[in-house]
Amino acid sequence: MQDLVRSSVNVIKENQSPNGAYVASPNFANYRYSWLRDGAFIAFGMAAAGEYDSAEKFLRWAGAAVICQEPRFAGLLAKKREGKPIEPHEFLPTRYRLDGSIEEDGWPNHQLDGYGAWIWALAGYIELSGDQALLAGLLPAVNMSADYIAAFWNIPCYDCWEEFGDKIHLSTLACLYGGLQAAADLTGRRELLATAGRIRQFILENGVADSHFVKHLGWPEVDASLLWLAIPFRVFAPDHPLLQATVAEIERTLAAGGVKRYAKDTYYGGGEWIILTAWLGWYYTEMGRDAEARKLLRWIEARAGANGWLPEQVPENLNNPEFYPVWQKRWGAIANPLLWSHAMYLVLQFALKNNLSDRGQADAEAAR
Ligand code: BGC
Repeated sequence: MQDLVRSSVNVIKENQSPNGAYVASPNFANYRYSWLRDGAFIAFGMAAAGEYDSAEKFLRWAGAAVICQEPRFAGLLAKKREGKPIEPHEFLPTRYRLDGSIEEDGWPNHQLDGYGAWIWALAGYIELSGDQALLAGLLPAVNMSADYIAAFWNIPCYDCWEEFGDKIHLSTLACLYGGLQAAADLTGRRELLATAGRIRQFILENGVADSHFVKHLGWPEVDASLLWLAIPFRVFAPDHPLLQATVAEIERTLAAGGVKRYAKDTYYGGGEWIILTAWLGWYYTEMGRDAEARKLLRWIEARAGANGWLPEQVPENLNNPEFYPVWQKRWGAIANPLLWSHAMYLVLQFALKNNLSDRGQADAEAAR
């Protein structure tokens, strides 16, 4: 559906501030900020759509925001060296104001994943655009982010859903692994690969139950963000047996039409998320399961509003319907549009177009 590609690009462009920050969602009070995690995937989606200027502007913004945190990072390293306790709110934030400053309002901001994701997005942008010019100016921020990850990767922090701050999450570790791999490539610092290897080993030793990966240490169930272990961060190959078993479990417990986050999710009742539906489709393209990926693409297209907007989630097959009105009362309607949803739609389109291995099947489908 060409229109949704166009409106996705437009929604993202319209909600990018002149300095490059992406607003997570313009109509949802708590999301009028720029997250490193959302922004990384939004920039990648825009690069995949050939919108290099937008991606580049965000990456510059992210580099500048990160480097402003250098004094804070130095303080954290000093505390670590001296064996002093560090409170969650002292760590670097994942959510920034659009001007790059931080709002100290008690938001669960200690989320490590964005510091890996944005480096991965930078490497992805360079690969897709061929533009190397950006790198030199961003190296200090890349190095600082990699050092931050290397220092703190194995401590608890809030996950990508901003929950469970006392746990260690596999999707967070996936972002950190991918960020270190990308940083090693971009900076030539090979020692970062050794830390990435330790993260992978840690996951194998602590993050498996019933022959599949688990949401976080000590929680035996799956979360759809476990897909990140394969796509895009490649901690494990998409066809690794543990990964395949994890995907089978996600399909069995979380994927009725679209894809939910996790079985006990209560946020707006725990509905089906556009980003995760696109993610499962992205995974399918890597596994040569393009017909299933296309079905998910169509599912997403059918959830777009007449104005071409995609929400964060849709209240279908709710885990806990009684929580839907509770959240509506607390924070208003579900965030819509959500820029990350639009970006993941672009990524899935791109993945389908670029899956050469499956071209025969695509042609056959088109001919039908
Ligand atoms: C999601 C996060 C996201 C944030 C902004 C939260 O509800 O769980 O993953 O970063 O919204 O989009």
